[in-house]
Amino acid sequence: MTVVSDRLDALRAGLNSRSIVQNLRYIAGQFPGQVSFSTSFGLEDQAITHLIFENDLPIRVFTLDTGRLFPETYSTWSRTLERYRRPIETFSPGAAQLQTFLTEKGPNAFYESVENRQNCCYIRKVEPLNRALQHQAVWITGIRAEQSPNRQHMSDLEWDHARQLAKYHPLFDWTFEQTRDYIREHHIPYNTLHDKGFVSIGCAPCTRAIRPGEDFRAGRWWWEDASKKECGLHEKV
Ligand code: ADX
Ligand code: SF4
Repeated sequence: MTVVSDRLDALRAGLNSRSIVQNLRYIAGQFPGQVSFSTSFGLEDQAITHLIFENDLPIRVFTLDTGRLFPETYSTWSRTLERYRRPIETFSPGAAQLQTFLTEKGPNAFYESVENRQNCCYIRKVEPLNRALQHQAVWITGIRAEQSPNRQHMSDLEWDHARQLAKYHPLFDWTFEQTRDYIREHHIPYNTLHDKGFVSIGCAPCTRAIRPGEDFRAGRWWWEDASKKECGLHEKV
């Protein structure tokens, strides 16, 4: 634990009072070849992708293709490749695991039980994520504090005990409006579902638009109890 907090303290000291680009460049410099950013092509992720690619930061960008994303998300992915002409590494679910799950449970088993839903998320997201983060020192994400009550208790820099790496959320303190304005100002391609009431966008069968005043994550796994609504990517272990 002391080694971990020492490592985080050292990183945090270097992050103080710099711009986001400077912070990202600093982190990349501390761990050459071991810093990865995961994108789901949401608004926050598109802003970070822009910062990384436009400033030529030596940070690997990757996505987890669950196979169940919205057509609009795939279109955002394509438009991002066209705009920046830089690679976005892709991690897909393990074919054998997915085939067994589909054969045994069918394509929409996630609606039937929390267990099925968590198994689907594990096969389509968590296991590919664990593969993507092997040998990495820092994982960068688009998490913002405002996104959920749970995330308000997080910090922009934290330790992922399960995966044994640091997590950094460069837009942690940004508001939704700030993120949207940044996207507009820089003409960054974004998921058009955001114009239709979708805020937090995951897989198509498990995401819907939210109504004004609803929690940011109310459209994710809406049929489940609020306490269970995490897919395992960002769970505290
Ligand atoms: S989730 O845990 O509910 O799925 P959320 O959609 O809020 O996460 O996204 C938070 C961050 O997790 C994103 O900014 C991104 O860094 C990462 N993330 C979520 N889904 C994916 C995905 N399919 N591929 C890559 N990164 C993802
Ligand atoms: Fe499966 Fe839904 Fe989880 Fe996507 S969000 S991996 S479709 S349960």
